[in-house]
Amino acid sequence: MNLVALIFIGVAVLFIIGIKFLSSPKTARYGNLIAAAGMIIAFFALHKGTGESVWTQGWSFNYTLIVIAIVLGLIAGAVGAYMVKMTAMPQMVALFNGLGGGAAALVASLEFNRGAGGLEPVAASITVPMLFATVIGSLSFAGSIIAYLKLEGKFEKPHTFPGQNFLNGLILLVILGLCGWLTINAVGGNALRGFIVLFVLALFFGVAMVMPIGGADMPVVISLLNSFTGLAVAADGFAINNLAMIVAGTLVGSSGTLLTLLMCRAMNRPVTNVLFGAFGSAGGSKAASGGVAGTVKPIQADEAALLLAYAQRVVVVPGYGMAVAQAQHQVRELSDELGKRGVEVQFAIHPVAGRMPGHMNVLLAEANVPYDQLIEMEQINPSMDRVDVCLVIGANDVVNPAAREEKTSPIYGMPIIEADRCKCTIVMKRSMAAGFAGIENLLFYKDNTRMLFGDAKASLNALIAAVKAN
Ligand code: TAP
Repeated sequence: MNLVALIFIGVAVLFIIGIKFLSSPKTARYGNLIAAAGMIIAFFALHKGTGESVWTQGWSFNYTLIVIAIVLGLIAGAVGAYMVKMTAMPQMVALFNGLGGGAAALVASLEFNRGAGGLEPVAASITVPMLFATVIGSLSFAGSIIAYLKLEGKFEKPHTFPGQNFLNGLILLVILGLCGWLTINAVGGNALRGFIVLFVLALFFGVAMVMPIGGADMPVVISLLNSFTGLAVAADGFAINNLAMIVAGTLVGSSGTLLTLLMCRAMNRPVTNVLFGAFGSAGGSKAASGGVAGTVKPIQADEAALLLAYAQRVVVVPGYGMAVAQAQHQVRELSDELGKRGVEVQFAIHPVAGRMPGHMNVLLAEANVPYDQLIEMEQINPSMDRVDVCLVIGANDVVNPAAREEKTSPIYGMPIIEADRCKCTIVMKRSMAAGFAGIENLLFYKDNTRMLFGDAKASLNALIAAVKAN
């Protein structure tokens, strides 16, 4: 076994340790650094995976190009990470993922072009992964760009038309047919022309696949496309005989698939419903049509502060509105203030609260909320009836009892944080507007619910001042 192969095994171990560390907010930063270190080592260890490397071959022009690309990538990534708002993170992930897919498709295209220009027939064991990487990578690129635009609010609604699935199926069949033809005719001008048609069709298929899906489902779509990008990179690795790409691509492919399935499970929807259900095109809730029993009971900050200050146990349920208001620091301050008065404060975390996996954990960690105060939905739900005050901050769908009570609701069956079972629930939001799923929330009409209307940050500041005054 040569030195480069040994280094690649080490790199694979670093990737796996990195992913393991990412599974807890306490170790996530180190996880990122460890995986990034693995990636840097992989860059310098490889040279087409043929056993050549900077150590065995010395410095070459290729390495200069690689270093220039790394520096440009580092600058773009760092500037992006610092500039982007927390609420725009999903868009950034969509763009980065799309670029990864596009890069994988370009690597495969270059290899195909090289083979097609030669005289020798190219082996199917190389052509098949190249074609796979081209199709999946360009699909992921085009799909991610559409996902990015949808998250930015452009053509957010599902765009459907009669016969759409049939047309998409037909394009897929043509793509598969072309792949079959190119596998046995991979050399010459016709092969190149066929390859260009394949590339364009794959891009078009990426657009056609994502356009019918509502903006609400984009985080799931991005995760799915992320797994596609991983598979395209792994296929590139097979085509150019590069171990690091095979390992990294497979890890991204499998973790992206698992994340997609976990998100779908947290919403109680099959992946097929996300891809073909056009979720968000119509509301299906009784509440949406105005048939909700109960009345909305507003509360002022002073009164809410009294309830909080004299409670024994308070549970905070953060949601997307906390991210929009950037109110995480105020949440922490209120929690500290209540803690000083002997109130037990916990944070109930729903797996799909916000707009990306771990959204609430990241925000609360940024505000230095101690990790042991963050409790997962399954752990906290059994004791919700023993909570004196549940403070729902900008969360909506993830606390909607319609998921349990209303069989016709689009979110029926989705596991929720059972805020409606607490002795008293205070919901902080600006209006009676619906959340992500576009349906009304039965919680707002319950006898034990009070609505504290206003921007979450402003309301929290008022609550902190009122608690201090008590
Ligand atoms: P949502 O249901 O989207 O509700 C957020 C609420 O925040 C809105 O009702 C809004 O009401 C309120 N809000 C917005 N800005 C605010 C501000 N400045 N101050 C106070 N309130 C504000 O959020 P959620 O409960 O976190 O649920 C997440 C949804 O996203 C779920 O439907 C989930 O399935 C979906 N989703 C999530 C993910 C991931 S991975 N997280 C992936 C796919 C889908 P007002 O406008 O009245 O203020």
